[in-house]
Amino acid sequence: RKPITTAKLRKMKQEKTPISVITAYDYPSAMLADQAGVDVILVGDSLGNVVLGYESTVPVTLDDMIYHTKAVTRAVQSSFVVTDMPFMTYHGSMDQTLRNAARIMQEGLAKAVKVEGGAEIAPVVKALVQAGIPVMAHVGLTPQSIHQIGGYKVQGKTSEQAQKLLEDARALEEAGAFSIVLELVTDQLAEQLTERLTIPTIGIGAGASCDGQVLVFHDVLGYGADVQPKRFVKAYANVGETIRGALQQYVHEVKARQFPAEGHSFRMTEEEASHLYG
Ligand code: KIV
Ligand code: NA
Repeated sequence: RKPITTAKLRKMKQEKTPISVITAYDYPSAMLADQAGVDVILVGDSLGNVVLGYESTVPVTLDDMIYHTKAVTRAVQSSFVVTDMPFMTYHGSMDQTLRNAARIMQEGLAKAVKVEGGAEIAPVVKALVQAGIPVMAHVGLTPQSIHQIGGYKVQGKTSEQAQKLLEDARALEEAGAFSIVLELVTDQLAEQLTERLTIPTIGIGAGASCDGQVLVFHDVLGYGADVQPKRFVKAYANVGETIRGALQQYVHEVKARQFPAEGHSFRMTEEEASHLYG
């Protein structure tokens, strides 16, 4: 498979070839996603919830993102790797924002970064793009602002709010974003955004008309600690059940002295062993 580029993603939109995106946070998950033919791997700050056990993405640090990005990029051959800039790492001075993004690229070896927000962060997008860093935008439900939004709910349901989101998206496209995530927006708004923008829209809980879809790795596999199922998720496996069953069997066999069996261990010669006894 040829490595995916931002140019290829734009071409996929033009040719109406859907773009597949999934999150990954470590070496084996990224290797499996790459081998499965995923176009874009997102090292999402959802890793805060999914693999670090936080209640939101707010506690996730730049060092956390770089640590996980390093593991992911070691595994990936063809997928395009995008890493989230975490909470408050792109809201200080432009100089500090650029340094933070540079670390994600130079230490993590990501190919692009993602930032949450509307027209207000267009200047940040522009500065990053001018520095040679591809930027994926993210509008609608933006989890880093969860305490301000006040809950994980569908965004842009009134025509006024929808109009604001259209203007935000336009500003982000004009600032040079190569793609935009639409999270938890209505089907109708996602359709309008997809039609009006020249950059690919990547939906999550945003319906079928987006240029691509993104889901969280653990949600796709039924491998989450997340107990309440989300309406916009489809689980393609029940890996959590499989893992729990296998671990129960392991515990049982250790307790029953069924594991290890003969073939699982090593013997010295009887002659050498004879010196051990007595
Ligand atoms: O962090 C994440 O996983 C994301 C996607 C859900 C878009 O931002
Ligand atoms: Na994210």
